[in-house]
Amino acid sequence: MKTKLSSQQVRDDFNDLRAVVHYTRAAHRLGLWASEKIVLEKFLPSRKTARILEAGCGAGRVALGLQELGYKKIYAFDFAEELCAQAQSLFIEREVGKAITLFHADARRVAKHPEVEGVQFDAALFMFNGLMQIPRMRNRRAALRSLHACCKPGAPLIFTTHDRDHSKLERFMWKREAKLWLTGRQDSALVEFGDRYFEDDLGRTFMHLPNRDEILEDLKATGWEHHWDSMRRRISKEPKAVREFSDECRFWVAQAD
Ligand SMILES: C[S@@+](CC[C@H](N)C(=O)[O-])C[C@H]1O[C@@H](n2cnc3c(N)ncnc32)[C@H](O)[C@@H]1O
Repeated sequence: MKTKLSSQQVRDDFNDLRAVVHYTRAAHRLGLWASEKIVLEKFLPSRKTARILEAGCGAGRVALGLQELGYKKIYAFDFAEELCAQAQSLFIEREVGKAITLFHADARRVAKHPEVEGVQFDAALFMFNGLMQIPRMRNRRAALRSLHACCKPGAPLIFTTHDRDHSKLERFMWKREAKLWLTGRQDSALVEFGDRYFEDDLGRTFMHLPNRDEILEDLKATGWEHHWDSMRRRISKEPKAVREFSDECRFWVAQAD
């Protein structure tokens, strides 16, 4: 019997050198995906002084992209210290000045962090599936509630997830996985159906793969109203470098009620 996956384990995995190099390289070289740029330009407030809170900023790829779009009040945080350190050095190198405030925090408790206490955000982001890298539904919902507590009514929350129903192959694989769970033969480190934990050249990765209904329920339970969602392939064709960095995903936009 393996030890059950925990947030601490996920954090250690993101602090691992292999993951740090991977996300730092993307922050320096890749920038915003074409689909991210389209979604951000469509759903973020157009006012460049809008306060934007980015959860799971990693090495700073999206925060830097926002600054390049002209936003001046970006607050970016991550719970992996090594990634925060890389983001810090990227922001110094690119001379972002006061446009980005970077801090270290766990999304489940960010509303209580001194850097954001008393600030009302105009938008929140959790890009590239970061929310789904939090083990256990109750923890993902705590993060959604905490982001909600930071935001003004009507503020958009933009995030992405995988979708375990999005292709014939995925549906087939998850049907097989469901049989394992029914008979208790799943990987004993996993905590919920939809979880995956694997190791490759880039290190160890935990990911919860939801279906669409699960996310709709999570939003409803945490003060967010579903506004829009779409698979990435319907938004834009991505260049090879982006497809190598990231799989197909679903973009979500919700609004704080
Ligand atoms: C797939 S990476 C994406 C990084 C970056 N946003 C990008 O697109 O390159 C997910 C990020 O979410 C962060 N993360 C996961 N759980 C978190 C939590 N509970 N609080 C804050 N950050 C978290 C990880 O440390 C990691 O940097």
